[in-house]
Parts: sequence; C-alpha cells; structure tokens
Amino acid sequence: MKRIIKKLTETFGPSGYEKKVRDVIREEIRDHVDSIKIDKLGNLIAHIKGQGPKVMLAAHMDEIGVVTSFIDKNGFIRFSNVGGFFPVHSLTSRIIFENGRIGVIGEERRKGMSDPVEMTKLYIDIGAKDKKEAEKLVPVGTFGCYERKFEDLGKRIIAKALDDRIGCAILIEVARKLKRKIKNDTYFVFTVQEEVGLKGARTSAFRLNPDIALAIDVTGTGDTPEARKMAVNLGAGAAIKVKDRGMVCDPRIVKTLINIARRNKIPYQLEILEMGTTDATAIQLTRGGVPSAAVSIPSRYIHSASEVVDMDDVGSVVNLITKYLKNRAVV
Ligand code: CO
Ligand code: ZN
Repeated sequence: MKRIIKKLTETFGPSGYEKKVRDVIREEIRDHVDSIKIDKLGNLIAHIKGQGPKVMLAAHMDEIGVVTSFIDKNGFIRFSNVGGFFPVHSLTSRIIFENGRIGVIGEERRKGMSDPVEMTKLYIDIGAKDKKEAEKLVPVGTFGCYERKFEDLGKRIIAKALDDRIGCAILIEVARKLKRKIKNDTYFVFTVQEEVGLKGARTSAFRLNPDIALAIDVTGTGDTPEARKMAVNLGAGAAIKVKDRGMVCDPRIVKTLINIARRNKIPYQLEILEMGTTDATAIQLTRGGVPSAAVSIPSRYIHSASEVVDMDDVGSVVNLITKYLKNRAVV
C-alpha cells in the first residue's frame, strides 16, 4: 500500500485541479471494479455491482493549496488560500505550481516575533528577477500546493496531502481486497473540491441517490504535547466518527460499525471532532436525505506539508470498511 500512498501524496492536486490525482487512481483501481465514470465536475465514480442496497463511499482527491493573486515589481508573488491553508504552518515551505515551478514562502518583517503570522504578509519567491519574469512563469490565477516528499518511518509515514489521499488509497485497497465479492451495490467515489466546500460529494450523491453513505477522511488526534483534549490517538485504531463540526453521524450506522469492529477484533476508537467535517455532511442532505457516517484515519498536523498517520490505523480502516461491505448494509 505504501507504494500507492507515496504516488498519490506526491501528486499535484489542489481543489479544482485534481486531474493528475484522478489519472493515478483510475490506473490503480480499474482492474478491481466493474466500471469507471468521470462526471462533469471531475469526480471519479468506480462501481462494483451487487444485489443489496446502494452504498456510496467517498474520499476526496483534492488537497489544500494556494492561488496567485498579485505580482509586485520585484517579482514577489502574493497569493490567496485554496481551502484551510494555515499561514503559521507555511513559513519557508516550498510551493509547487501546475507547470512544475517551485517557490518558497517568505514573510514580511513581523513587528513582534509573538505576533500572529498573517496571510496578507506572506509572499512566494520563485526566484524571478522582476515582475516580467515572474508573470511569465507563474501568472496571476495559477494554482499551487505544498511540495514535499513522502517519508516512510516504518509503522508511521509523513507526507503532504494525506488529507485525503490516504482515504483514496484505502478505497483502492478495499476494492482490491473485495475481489468483486460483495453484498452491496457499491460506488467508490473519489470527489473533487472537498476542501472548498464539499462540492464533488454534493453533485455525485445527487446523481447516485445512494441508500447509505460513508466518507473516509482524516481526523485530528489528542496525543501530542498540549493538544486539544480529544479521545483519538495515533495508532489506536480506526476512528468511527460520532459527530463533527458539520454533522451528527447516523447512529444506526455508527452502531453497526462498532459491532463489526468488535466482532472482528478490529481496533477502533470513537471520534468527536470539534473543527472540520467531511464529504458525508454534503451527502447526508442530498434529495430526501441519505443516512450517512464516516470512518476516519487519525492524523497529526492536518493541512500542513507534513501530515503523519500510522499504518496500523490505515489497516484497521481497510478491514472495517471491507467487512462492512461484505455484509448487507442496512439501517
Ligand atoms: Co482537509
Ligand atoms: Zn479531508
């Protein structure tokens, strides 16, 4: 699995610019599903036919990023955020643009070193000597994202965009493990533009009109020094979401997931996330309503260039989702 995770996380794909990620996923999943469609917004919808209820699984392809907004006479580039870009995480990070050009994030002199890092004081230095050269390489309106290599620490890994390429890798692995032996009519949906408002999940759910939906995405942890109190720890198992900022998960699905985890001795923990939400929030409110829930991968430093997850948790999520699909999903 690490090969696919490395490939997916090192691929360029801020919101709206998911094409390269989509191409990787299509290659990796096509032998394990009955059909693949790409819809008008760019969602990749892979289908394994089954007799039972229609289940939609969602993981988003896009990552947070930047878009260039102004270039000064010396060639320094100002930018706007694409999704939840944290200025404090970004100082001196490298940004890669769609054409492969790399730059570094610099900051205007701060009055007091304890003052907050502000988006409006940041700029990208792409090594241009003046405005003309910068405009030619990275014109206003160019999208970029963090540039960072995947690191294998053994049990744990560090990479950019584990939010949510780890979810994409998990869905590919689940499809591979199922070998089309399935009790449910299952759609693996790789969504676009989650980080800017759950856009792809909204339209693909409307199209598919599922009976049940599960989002697979990252969640925070409470196990780092002076972290916000949260009963989710790295390496302690699949996080079955109970509630986040955007939704209350369907209690029947939550109960089923807990039972499956217990019966199969899959390590799990219950997640209540104070900040952030997932594609499930948009899917839940589709048409007449879709019973929805989410299974999360505990992650540290979310929305930075160096997110960390534990491969045991990744394995637990794969097992939980696989077992869930092997039984007839009911609510
Ligand atoms: Co995110
Ligand atoms: Zn996410």
